[in-house]
Amino acid sequence: MKRVVAKSNEIREGEIKALEVEGKEIILVKSGGKIHALSRFCTHDKADLSTSILLEDRLVCPLHLSQFDLTDGKALTPPATEPLEVYLVEVVEGDVVLEI
Ligand code: FES
Repeated sequence: MKRVVAKSNEIREGEIKALEVEGKEIILVKSGGKIHALSRFCTHDKADLSTSILLEDRLVCPLHLSQFDLTDGKALTPPATEPLEVYLVEVVEGDVVLEI
């Protein structure tokens, strides 16, 4: 199912925006001009990743500092070992379209 969730120009470079779509908690992250969508809560101990630090193409969990790859959600450093869920994002005529 595809859903329009935002306007692409509403999300600034380096911004992490939390939203709920179809009952799923998601973050949108803009990095290098590209928008990524991932699950909002850390797979280690459920920290809210909408308050994480963006380090180039990585998200750093605010609680125990695991790093996650923005593109595939992979946990790159411990203590987290499980990946974040990643959602397909398209920008269509200025709309951010998410596939859930
Ligand atoms: S809650 Fe994210 S690394 Fe522990």
